[in-house]
Amino acid sequence: MDLTEPQIPEAPTSTGHPKQLYMLFFTEMWERFSFYGMKALLLAYMITELKFDEPKGYAILGSYAALVYTMPMFGGMMSDRYLGGRKAVMYGGILMTIGHLVLAVPQDWSFFYGMAFIICGNGFFKPNISSLVGTLYADNDPRKDSGFSIFYMGINIGAALGGLLCGYVGQQIDWHYGFGLAGLFMILGLVVFALGKKSLGDKGLPPNPADLKAPAFAGISKEVVIYVATLAIIPVIVALFNRYEIMDFIMFGLGALSILYILFIAFKMEAAARFKLFAALVLIVFSALFWAFYEQNAGSLNLFAMRNVDMHVGGVELPALAVNNFLPPAWVVILSFFFAWLWPALNRKGIEPNTPTKFGLSFVLVGLGFYVFYLGCRTSEGSGLIPLITFIAGYFFIICGEMCISPIGLSMITKLSPARIVAMMMGIWFFASAVGEFLASKIGALMSVPQNVVDNPVLSLPYYAQILNQIGLWSLGIGVVLILFSSVIRKWMGEVR
Ligand code: PHE
Repeated sequence: MDLTEPQIPEAPTSTGHPKQLYMLFFTEMWERFSFYGMKALLLAYMITELKFDEPKGYAILGSYAALVYTMPMFGGMMSDRYLGGRKAVMYGGILMTIGHLVLAVPQDWSFFYGMAFIICGNGFFKPNISSLVGTLYADNDPRKDSGFSIFYMGINIGAALGGLLCGYVGQQIDWHYGFGLAGLFMILGLVVFALGKKSLGDKGLPPNPADLKAPAFAGISKEVVIYVATLAIIPVIVALFNRYEIMDFIMFGLGALSILYILFIAFKMEAAARFKLFAALVLIVFSALFWAFYEQNAGSLNLFAMRNVDMHVGGVELPALAVNNFLPPAWVVILSFFFAWLWPALNRKGIEPNTPTKFGLSFVLVGLGFYVFYLGCRTSEGSGLIPLITFIAGYFFIICGEMCISPIGLSMITKLSPARIVAMMMGIWFFASAVGEFLASKIGALMSVPQNVVDNPVLSLPYYAQILNQIGLWSLGIGVVLILFSSVIRKWMGEVR
């Protein structure tokens, strides 16, 4: 053992959590600052600056968001087998930094290349920073769940600040300064991790360091081969952006494969485990639908906020992109406290909803949120501008919906999957959000507004109102169906409560 490596100290911090949690917290906070800061600008930048027509803008956004959450499946695999979490986070962070800085270059070529670097980087970074949090606790450690809640808070504080600052700088000053600002904060996250990673002791090291250094190809080590092979994917992704229609086949193909994989494993198991996997499959499919509605936030609702929300407060006009991207994570931060109190309180009374019912509730709440947006549209037909307070209220319901699904998803997966395929199932859970974001852009494209009316709120409003209404109704309907079937899914889960 290397005695110069500091080991994890036994003494926890004043909050009762290992101090490494806070190092990972700040790393992820600044990474999400840059990730969501950049995403806040993406669609509006394509439409107003690059002059893409709206359906193309939505298609590129959907391809980016889909690929950025498909890659963690591969990044997670590379880290489990070869790199270990630490090297994966460092490499991912470096690629993401390059991506953001490339986007800051005011040249046409930079756009697709910047996004491609971020996609590859996120694939290494995102799954592994979360699994590093997991390594800080033993499986049966009661602090594990609250450790993840604190970490989720870091994610959303970063996302709120990033949406606010990059949204403001990008829209009001210069798009490329906004992207550059995201890059600077990614560097900050990377520095926090580079300085702090030693404190992780033996956590997140490569599973087989000697093998990683051994020459794999023409005298080059496996580690370098992985890095270089990843770089080789970048031009492929750029080519995909140029032929984005192919994404339909990729997402459909991978989606079908994932479902078949789960069914294949399920049919090889004995009955109880098989039904657990059926339950996981149903919930994974519904989670994809959930993100398809929810993720209008990063797409259509950005343009809606710019065109059809009255951003005047006390004579000052607030920057629409900043507001639209600040609100959801800010609500998460506020509502986390409420839900951290609510679930145990309901549990003590014996009336805490079970997992499938919570999934159902999340759809009902998202449906209500979109219905609030729709009602705002109906009552603002004269001006074409819905009041800011209505916009804020709609997001309140949508985020209550997020709180019923996102934080419980990962623990549900760990409980329903046989141990040897947990990592793969996690990858599929992330992939479901990739499918969801891809579908979101298809739904968003239904709200494309013709060029000749984009500057007239009264005329652009109906393009949004009708679809927002439909999303609201569909989501409510799906929620009710899920709640009605929750007892069946619960039986499959083997839950007797
Ligand atoms: N917003 C959270 C995050 O960025 C949760 C999330 C993860 C949402 C992946 C969608 C997809 O980590």
